[in-house]
Amino acid sequence: MERRALIGGAAASLAAAATGADASPSPRFLPFQTPVVIAFPQLEAVWAPAPFRARFTKSNGEDSVVPGIAVRTPRRIEAFCTYCPHELCVIKLTDDHQLRCPCHFSLFDPLRDGAWIAGPAMRRTYRFDHRVKGPDLVITGIEADLERRLL
Ligand code: FES
Repeated sequence: MERRALIGGAAASLAAAATGADASPSPRFLPFQTPVVIAFPQLEAVWAPAPFRARFTKSNGEDSVVPGIAVRTPRRIEAFCTYCPHELCVIKLTDDHQLRCPCHFSLFDPLRDGAWIAGPAMRRTYRFDHRVKGPDLVITGIEADLERRLL
C-alpha cells in the first residue's frame, strides 16, 4: 500500500474518532414527504430530546411514519431514529444518556452515532439524513434499510 494511502486512512480514522462519526459507508436514504425542521432554540439544553415523526413513501407506494428524536449531546446536535432495529419497539433516551429499548433491552450509544452496545438488535440505530442549515437542524430522510422491516 502506498504511504499516502496509509496516511490518508489514518487521518480519516482520526477525524472520525474526533467527531464521534461512524466510519461505515453512507447508506441510501428514503426521502421524507416533508423535511423535519427543528430550530436550535428547541435544542438548547444538553440531553433534552425533541421528539418528531416524519412521513415517507415506501417503494410499494404505501405511506409510513418513522419516529425520532433530535438532541444536543455534549459533542454536537444529533438525530436518532427511535425504531429499535430488533423488533421496532420505540427506543428511549435515558437519564444516564443511553438509548435503550424497553422491550428486550438493546442499548445504543448516542455519543457514537447510535452505535450498538448490547442486546439483540445487533446493529446501530437506523440513520437519518440530516444536516445543519442556518439556525435549524433539517432532517430529510431515513435509512432505506428500515423499509425492509416495514414491508
Ligand atoms: S425490540 Fe428492541 S431489543 Fe427487541
